Amino acid sequence: MLAEYIAERYGRRVRYIADVAGGQGMLTRLLNKRFNYQCEVVDPRGYVLTGVPSRREEFSAALALYYDLIVGLHPDEATRAVAEAALVRPVILVPCCNFWAADKLGRDALLDAIADWYGTQGVCAERVVFDFKGPKNIGLVSEPPVVKEQYDPTR
Ligand SMILES: C[S@@+](CC[C@H](N)C(=O)[O-])C[C@H]1O[C@@H](n2cnc3c(N)ncnc32)[C@H](O)[C@@H]1O
Repeated sequence: MLAEYIAERYGRRVRYIADVAGGQGMLTRLLNKRFNYQCEVVDPRGYVLTGVPSRREEFSAALALYYDLIVGLHPDEATRAVAEAALVRPVILVPCCNFWAADKLGRDALLDAIADWYGTQGVCAERVVFDFKGPKNIGLVSEPPVVKEQYDPTR
């Protein structure tokens, strides 16, 4: 289960989570109720279940800075913005349909294309197979590039 994976992997190192394109908000509900995170859905459709916190808007990478972790589970049109968020925040991106490129890309080619782009941006990502029903259950779990502090000879 993705919520368990998040709790195991990040523990208390993260608190505020964006469930981008979260639809009804099942993941958010689980993360908040069972794992005590402060998660909210960011999805323009506004289909969230009663009581699930949400922002009814399109996700953009600029929003990423408000959160400690960005999760994009089958984020459709928000796929690129979620990938861009990986430049500044830890991201779990499980792509579904190809909203990445004009070319026809199947699951593995889509993952490769995003992973290649991450590579060009210095984003460090690993491929994770999640324990929910496939085939769209493989994600890229990434950390943003490490920004080296500038050398300051006076320090
Ligand atoms: C395939 S559903 C995924 C729902 C949920 N994450 C799941 O896996 O069951 C795609 C969702 O993406 C949302 N979406 C589309 N464009 C978006 C955008 N620019 N920013 C955030 N969410 C978006 C849609 O409203 C829809 O709820």
